[in-house]
Amino acid sequence: MKIVTVIGARPQIIKAAALSRAIKSHYANEIQEIIVHTGQHYDENMSQVFFDELQIPRPDHNLHVGSASHGVQTARMTEGIEALLLKERPDFIVLYGDTNSTLAGAVAAAKIHVPIVHIEAGLRSFNKSMPEEINRIVCDHCSTLLFTPTKAGLENLKREGFPIDNADPYTIDNPKVYHCGDIMYDNSLHFADIAEEKTDIIQRMELANKPFILATIHRDSNTDHPERLSAVFSALMRLSMECQVVLPLHPRTSKLLKTNLKEDLQAQIFNSQSIHLIPPVSFLEMIALERHAQLVMTDSGGVQKEAYFFKKPCIILRPETEWVEIVQTGNAILADADESRITQAWQHFKGNPPTTFPEIFGDGHAAEFMLEKMLKGAKKSIRGEIFFA
Ligand code: UD1
Ligand code: UDP
Repeated sequence: MKIVTVIGARPQIIKAAALSRAIKSHYANEIQEIIVHTGQHYDENMSQVFFDELQIPRPDHNLHVGSASHGVQTARMTEGIEALLLKERPDFIVLYGDTNSTLAGAVAAAKIHVPIVHIEAGLRSFNKSMPEEINRIVCDHCSTLLFTPTKAGLENLKREGFPIDNADPYTIDNPKVYHCGDIMYDNSLHFADIAEEKTDIIQRMELANKPFILATIHRDSNTDHPERLSAVFSALMRLSMECQVVLPLHPRTSKLLKTNLKEDLQAQIFNSQSIHLIPPVSFLEMIALERHAQLVMTDSGGVQKEAYFFKKPCIILRPETEWVEIVQTGNAILADADESRITQAWQHFKGNPPTTFPEIFGDGHAAEFMLEKMLKGAKKSIRGEIFFA
């Protein structure tokens, strides 16, 4: 079986590590993986660091699309991915999550009848002002095999009319939904101890045995709106009176802090002895920080889940989340970009740190499960359906 895996943004590169690792350990003779990097993320610490650290094979192709508006970026990727699919003629294209790289892969593949495997299918925020929501819906509805990591994801797909007990052969018009674990959980389990051994960020930043909040902020709905970004940073200033704050800054946020925060707030943040603004860290460093943090505060999808994996309370800086289970279990609070809700959530978790984290993300072997299903699908000659224009 030959698959083309499309990656582009940081979380997709990290997710791809789990699938590539499973192919190498269990299916090296059966599966050929061609990796296409769209180039959506390109800074060394947003891309290359993960290949080096997580032993992901070097991409076979890099489209170098870089940053641009949604339409321009997606169009450039779509053109490049289509050409590569025509060249490589894979059994499946594998797409992760919800980024513009995912959308481009879905549109390119569906139109030339390359069956799509969507990993992280079915997640919904029910907020179509998010580019990610559009990307998820389009990709799911063009997919042949949909792997959903949560029960909520499965329910969403059922509600949208996806069949559940249908027989093969599976096609874009007869798609198959599988409920399985989360591929990010595979990675967190695999790398947790390796991170302790191989990183020294906790020692370097003198955080050992010190309570600290780990924060990340990068959603356009927060960074691009001065009032929302100011509310988040004002809350961080307040929390930093009680606890150190470590904030690895996404490049989007670094750029917009300077234009979207008032000068006095900027000065307070940059001069604070308790707020540590640092460049994006590697994945191993990130999971070391997550494991040692007292609490996580984030608008990231991946980071809110990792907080849960490492049994940390999480304040979600969004009005809603696709990962509803972590809120329903009481381990995360939706505080939006609202200074008083953020500080209330902090007070709540300080007084009542959560202790129960039910297993909702599988057993850490989601990648193997998915590869088995793909192999089965390929044997049932899904590939016979492919039409190359
Ligand atoms: C993208 C995804 C988002 C995901 C996030 C993960 C879309 C629509 N959004 O958001 O779902 O959560 O990645 O991190 O696909 N930049 C750099 N260097 C880089 C990459 C980006 O400086 O290596 C800066 C550029 O100014 C760019 C901005 O960050 O314009 C935004 O990058 P982009 O890839 O468009 O979106 P993200 O905010 O990263
Ligand atoms: N991450 C990282 N370094 C950082 C910040 C995040 O390695 O400085 C990892 C994090 O551990 C998670 C993933 O990046 O695995 C999440 O990516 P991001 O927050 O950029 O995007 P999202 O998950 O919201 O799409």
